[in-house]
Amino acid sequence: MLCNLEQQPADALLALIKLYGDDTRPDKIDLGVGVYRTGQGGTPVFGAIKAAEQRLVDIQDSKAYLGPEGDMGFVHALMPYIFGSDDPAMGGRIEGMQAPGGTGAVRLAVALAKKAGVPRVWMGVPSWPNHAQIYADLGMELKTFAHASKSGTTDMGALRGAIAEAAEGDAILLHGCCHNPTGIDYSNAEWDEIAGLIADAKLLPILDLAYQGLGHGMEEDAYGVRRVLAAVPEALIAYSCDKNFGMYRDRVGAIYVMAQDAAVLTRVLSNGHALARAAWSMPPDHGGAAVRLVLEDEGLTALWLDELDTMRTRMSQVRARLAAAGQQGGVDFTPLGSQNGLFSMLPLSVEQIQQLRSEHGIYMAGSGRINAAGLTMGNIDKFIADVAAVSA
Ligand code: LMR
Repeated sequence: MLCNLEQQPADALLALIKLYGDDTRPDKIDLGVGVYRTGQGGTPVFGAIKAAEQRLVDIQDSKAYLGPEGDMGFVHALMPYIFGSDDPAMGGRIEGMQAPGGTGAVRLAVALAKKAGVPRVWMGVPSWPNHAQIYADLGMELKTFAHASKSGTTDMGALRGAIAEAAEGDAILLHGCCHNPTGIDYSNAEWDEIAGLIADAKLLPILDLAYQGLGHGMEEDAYGVRRVLAAVPEALIAYSCDKNFGMYRDRVGAIYVMAQDAAVLTRVLSNGHALARAAWSMPPDHGGAAVRLVLEDEGLTALWLDELDTMRTRMSQVRARLAAAGQQGGVDFTPLGSQNGLFSMLPLSVEQIQQLRSEHGIYMAGSGRINAAGLTMGNIDKFIADVAAVSA
C-alpha cells in the first residue's frame, strides 16, 4: 500500500535551513525561516528562559501526564498579555488549552471550525504558506483576497469586498500583528473598522497571534485581537510563544476560545480536548512550563520584557538602515522602514532570488520574503548592494 504514495517536495521554507547550512561561503546570509537573530547573527536562548529552565530542573518532581489541555498555569499566565489585565477571561467567556506551537494552535482552531460546520475560511494573501497547507489537509475550503496593495499599504478595499461576499458562518483568518510575510499590519483605525465589519457579517474570526511583542510592544500588538473580541460573540485565537520567548523547537503555543457564554465555552473546549487527544494526545510540557515560570516571577518577567525590547530595538535599527538605502537597482527599500516584525517582501523574480542564492550566498524564501533579523550591521551593505546588482 505504501507504494501508492507519491513523493512530496520538501517544505520550501524549512528546506532553506539545510541549503544554508550546506553552503560553505563565509559571507553567506540567512534571511529564510523566521527566527530572531542578534547583531552577531546568533539565536541564543532568552536569559529569562534559561533561568526558568534551571529552576524547572530543580523543582519539577514528576513528568506524569497532564492531559490534553497541557499546563493550564501556562495557558492562564499568558491571558492578561493577550486579552488585557482588567478581565482576561471576559467574564468567563474565554478559556484556552496548550498546543504544540503556533502551528498546533492554528490546526486545532481550523479543525474546531470545521467540526462546528464552518464551510470555508477567508484569508488575505500572501500569507504564511502553512496556513493554506493546514486548510488543505483538513479539507477546509479557502477563499482569498489581497492583503496588501501595490503601494505597500493594507488593501482595505479587498478586505471589505471579501467580507461583503462571505456568507454568515464563514471564518476569516487574520494575523494579529507582524504580518507574515509582508510586515504590513492593519492600523488601529483599520482594526476598529474590521471588528465592526466582521461582527455585522457574522463571521467567525480566527486570529493568529504568533509575533506579539515583536511589532510595537506586548500591549500595542494586542490591539487588533482585543478590538475584534470586543465586537463579536465568538472567536478562536491561535497563539505562539516560539518567537516572543524564543522557544522555536520546544513548540510552545496555545489556543483560546471565546464563546457566547460559559456553557458553550465548556462544550467547545471539550471538542478541542478530543481533537488534541486524537492528534497529539497532549502537548510537550517543557517549554510551556518554562514560560509559566517566567510569567509567575516578577524578576524573570521583567528580564523577559527587557529582552523583547532589545529584539524590537534591533529590528527597528535594521529597518531604519534598509529604509535609508532608498531605491537601489529595481528595489525601493523605503517601505521596509515602517513595516513590522521579522518579515518584509522584496519585489524580486524567482530568477533574481535564485541568483542571489547561487551567486551571492543570500538565502530568502521563494516568495521574496526576507527575515530582516538575518541582517546585521556587518552584512547589510553587502545585502543591499547584491539586491541592487541582481535587480538593476
Ligand atoms: C516562518 O514563517 O518562517 C516561521 O513561522 C517558521 C515556520 O514554521 O514556518
